[in-house]
Amino acid sequence: MKSSNPSIETNETLAYTSLRISNDHDRLNSLYTCLMQEIDGGPPHAAQNCFFRLRDMLNGHFDVEDRIHFSVVRRFRPGFGSLIEALSKEHSDFRADMEKIQRLLSENDLKESKRLLMRFADRFLLHECTEEALIADLDKTF
Ligand SMILES: [Fe+2]
Ligand SMILES: [Fe+2]
Repeated sequence: MKSSNPSIETNETLAYTSLRISNDHDRLNSLYTCLMQEIDGGPPHAAQNCFFRLRDMLNGHFDVEDRIHFSVVRRFRPGFGSLIEALSKEHSDFRADMEKIQRLLSENDLKESKRLLMRFADRFLLHECTEEALIADLDKTF
């Protein structure tokens, strides 16, 4: 998809927010790996602490995407509007899931929290893949 009036500023803004999002995805994946290790073998408080870090980072990441990255894409590449709406809706679902997982961890229900976390991770991986595919598509328009 080519913009009808691409500008250097637009391309730089899209490139910057895309890079920020991709870097966040790498950090989130590392934190998730750490969390699963703690749930499997670490003390419960370590799993909780790891989850808190992941939750805080995810909330910040979703905010950056919703408020900055998605806004920029919507503004400069309106053809991706429906995809952006779907991704934003998934953020709401992920936020609700994180509240459930947090409650389970605070009740020390490691088995159920792990089950929900793994389901969460599968869905989040698809979400990330969709966002990375979007970034690759945007990259073709820079
Ligand atoms: Fe996202
Ligand atoms: Fe993301």
